[in-house]
Amino acid sequence: MTHRPLGIAADEPVRVVLAGAGAMGRAWLQVISVEPGVELAGVADVNLGVARDAVAQAVARGGSPAVPVGGDVVVLARETAAHAVVDVTVPSAHHPVTTAALLAGLPVLGEKPAAATLAEALSLCAAAEVTGELFMVSQSRRWNPRLAAFGEAARALGPVATLTTQFFKAAHFGGFREEMADPLLVDMAIHAFDSARFLLRSEPATVYCEAWNPPWSWFSGNAAASATFAMDDGARYVYDGSWFAPGAETSWNGAWRAVAEHGTVCWDGEAAPVAFTEPDHAGRRYVDGPADPAGGRPVPVADGPEGIAGALRAFVAAVRSGRTPDGEVHGNVMSLAMVEAAVRSAATGRWVLLDDVLEDAHRAAVRSEPHAGVRAALRAWPDPRSGLADAATTA
Ligand SMILES: NC(=O)c1ccc[n+]([C@@H]2O[C@H](COP(=O)([O-])OP(=O)(O)OC[C@H]3O[C@@H](n4cnc5c(N)ncnc54)[C@H](O)[C@@H]3O)[C@@H](O)[C@H]2O)c1
Repeated sequence: MTHRPLGIAADEPVRVVLAGAGAMGRAWLQVISVEPGVELAGVADVNLGVARDAVAQAVARGGSPAVPVGGDVVVLARETAAHAVVDVTVPSAHHPVTTAALLAGLPVLGEKPAAATLAEALSLCAAAEVTGELFMVSQSRRWNPRLAAFGEAARALGPVATLTTQFFKAAHFGGFREEMADPLLVDMAIHAFDSARFLLRSEPATVYCEAWNPPWSWFSGNAAASATFAMDDGARYVYDGSWFAPGAETSWNGAWRAVAEHGTVCWDGEAAPVAFTEPDHAGRRYVDGPADPAGGRPVPVADGPEGIAGALRAFVAAVRSGRTPDGEVHGNVMSLAMVEAAVRSAATGRWVLLDDVLEDAHRAAVRSEPHAGVRAALRAWPDPRSGLADAATTA
């Protein structure tokens, strides 16, 4: 989807208001303070004390100015002449906060998930269309040069038939994650699902998922899941994860394997990926030199900003230029659709069609979107896949 560029001079900083000054909001304050060409204009939180505390902490750490705080992000953005909003509120606030900002003419960079539900995420796509403003979702684990190198190396070896993620952590968070239903699928697996779409350059068609929890788990909801997605090009993406897995833990990025026609590429989620290829295959992508004992060779990795710093840099370039960034909401929502489809499959014990999940969410969005113009834009979509068609250019 094309959006309006900001129209500010190249040497003028993009002034942003941060919405949501909780744990992740504070990480964003740190990244905003060191990013060239970006200036913090204010911090909004429904809990003003939290906003004040976050600003004081950032000032004490150095690099951040003592900016104004407020309870309403749009009011604060107007008062501080901000150009854009970084939405790091709780997921249930993503839809109202981002909609209000877009309608006020402010582009938004939002934390994952795009919204608390797929229906709300579809509404946010329509809100971006109606306003012509950019809404980009920061899916932080996608911004990793080693992940990109893994995908390039795998795709260079011919069609990828199988992509797998193993994700095993003994995660003791306390708080809401230990009480919610399906914590692993809803709160964590979206990172891996989103990366799978990024790596395979294809979209999911169906999923079968099982989710479970042993009696000794410290989570109330199912904190283990195993999901097989059939992608629309015939490849399979297999996710196997647990948050109650003491010992031999994987990286927070998971451990990955891609099986392609002319070889296999593995990535432990941290170091450079390792390619196992036919030696003279034209598409091979690895660093020349002796192979490891198993015959693998490391894949070259480019430099680049990682995590939320990578997302912020891409967002700033996009609002300046008008170009569509990776993570534009239309291109992101299929990752949330994968989560909802996996949860539905685990609940019903059946294969689930992604199209059914999208159609149900679209109907729910049309029913519940409060803004008449946004509702009309949603109604105008011939069907959800067509409505998301721009995703093809950004995924
Ligand atoms: N990318 C990652 O690796 C990663 C990691 C952790 C969290 N997150 C995401 O970041 C977001 C925030 O998570 P968190 O852990 O910081 O949560 P948190 O609960 O610590 O902080 C959220 C803050 O949002 C504020 N808030 C709620 N409604 C608001 C509104 N309408 N306007 C302004 N502020 C409002 C709350 O008062 C709270 O201070 C979530 O979407 C979460 O999924 C991403």
